[in-house]
Amino acid sequence: MAPVRTYIASRQLEEQIVLKTTEVSSQHYRDAMARFAGAVHIVTTDGAAGRRGVTAIAACSVSDDPPTVLVCLNRQNPSNDLFVKNGVFALNTLSSRHEELSKAFAGLTKHSYEERFGLAEWETIVTGAPILPGALAVFDCKIVKTVELGTHRVYFGHVTGLRIGENLQPLLYHERGYRVL
Ligand SMILES: Cc1cc2nc3c(=O)[nH]c(=O)nc-3n(C[C@H](O)[C@H](O)[C@H](O)COP(=O)(O)O)c2cc1C
Repeated sequence: MAPVRTYIASRQLEEQIVLKTTEVSSQHYRDAMARFAGAVHIVTTDGAAGRRGVTAIAACSVSDDPPTVLVCLNRQNPSNDLFVKNGVFALNTLSSRHEELSKAFAGLTKHSYEERFGLAEWETIVTGAPILPGALAVFDCKIVKTVELGTHRVYFGHVTGLRIGENLQPLLYHERGYRVL
């Protein structure tokens, strides 16, 4: 079935696309998800398996008691196995000042894994995962559960350390580009 195209109210021409489940390709799914405005984070880990950081928007709150967050990372990238092996992660919520850092940790620059960490000052709180002192908020977590589903692995983290930073403008990602709220 061809996408249903309708013109919606207010005279401004807009296109809506409605698809049935059987017609939802991963590209259509990505196009719809691009409508989400997501906060940008760098999720880090360190420990016996080594240090790693990844730019991620697929992260959110799960519960405030016990304090728990989740983050979804691509499990087809073997480097992300370090998170499982170390058993810890820190979720660093970025401000508008961190766009270039975010690009580096997304692999969009020529920096090696270790060079990416050289682009900022890092500290630790409890778990040993690198935290960014200039972040809007930091959730330092022990991984309590992982779930593998499709292309990704969901990490549930018990928040064992916290840092509430300056109330700066958050860095968002929307329609495949960086935005500032
Ligand atoms: C704004 C933005 C958000 C991203 N969000 C996620 C995410 O939630 N989960 C994920 O697995 N990858 C996400 N990525 C992609 C990873 O950052 C990227 O694939 C990874 O860092 C590149 O692999 P490398 O570190 O091995 O070079 C995102 C990238 C960008 C630019």
